[in-house]
Amino acid sequence: MSHIPVLLHESIDALQIKRGGIYVDCTTNRGGHSKEIAELLGKTGTLICIDLDTDALREAEANLMQIDNHPRYIFVHSNFRHLGTILVTHGIERVDGILADLGLSSQELDSAGRGFTFRYDEPLLMTFDPHPTDDMTTAYDIINNWGEESIADVLYGYADERYAKRIAKKIVETRISKEIKTTFQLVDIIASAVPTLYRHRKTHFATKTFQALRMAANDELTSIKEMIHTASSVLAYDGRLAIITFHSTEDRVVKHTLKEYRDILTLTSKKPIVPSEEELNTNPRARSAQLRVAYKPLPKYN
Ligand SMILES: C[S@@+](CC[C@H](N)C(=O)[O-])C[C@H]1O[C@@H](n2cnc3c(N)ncnc32)[C@H](O)[C@@H]1O
Repeated sequence: MSHIPVLLHESIDALQIKRGGIYVDCTTNRGGHSKEIAELLGKTGTLICIDLDTDALREAEANLMQIDNHPRYIFVHSNFRHLGTILVTHGIERVDGILADLGLSSQELDSAGRGFTFRYDEPLLMTFDPHPTDDMTTAYDIINNWGEESIADVLYGYADERYAKRIAKKIVETRISKEIKTTFQLVDIIASAVPTLYRHRKTHFATKTFQALRMAANDELTSIKEMIHTASSVLAYDGRLAIITFHSTEDRVVKHTLKEYRDILTLTSKKPIVPSEEELNTNPRARSAQLRVAYKPLPKYN
């Protein structure tokens, strides 16, 4: 399924794009949000497009180059936690806006071979980078090498999985006799660890385990905190930061981290912006999305 950008108009409005400004899309994917930003920036602007997904970024480049009078683009295959270094490398000191549309795109969720979904039997990778190198942590590493307590902490801490301990115990018991290599093997283990009633709920019983493992494999929450930290220093006065989250754990981290920087960044509203009925009708995958926006006010002088 192709990815439909979520909260597109709301996030672009929130960024209050200045023609000729410098903006960062931390999660470019195939360029859904970047395209709108690029059109508003015009050819005197600069757009830095970051993503860990090399394949998606390559497609974004092809799409974005087609825009008439497009801005200068800087495409960067990296984790957005390195935003500070990325800007230094390109000689950029201040930016006018930063967007992060967190998590996975629909293609990443659906595309065979990445291990993000329990609907297909795939190797347990779950890395945003489709071609992980040996030094990257995969879901396979966590499941086959981490201790029982650490696995339970991941499942509970990242996804509030109430059967975290039972699932972790079952994983460790199973791997004694054979490696756990595929998504279907993992689904069977979860099914045998949770009560029957839990297996018949509306939300699939493996949802939380898969979400938690993906978050741990990509060290997602730390990346978000580091990006907000960098944003607080690199945003120009009046510059804006817009972050779209897709579940409560992510939103909680964004909310708390923004609070930590409240002396530097001001929230535009206490409550997050959520998708309209109209958007939900055309894109049900947007249902859990929330947008938080902050700006950097001019310092007050006495
Ligand atoms: C929801 S998609 C973005 C979709 C895009 N805004 C659009 O509408 O076309 C999230 C993207 O962020 C990327 N991503 C997630 N965490 C990342 C990180 N820490 N650093 C860089 N890219 C990341 C994923 O690979 C994915 O392509």
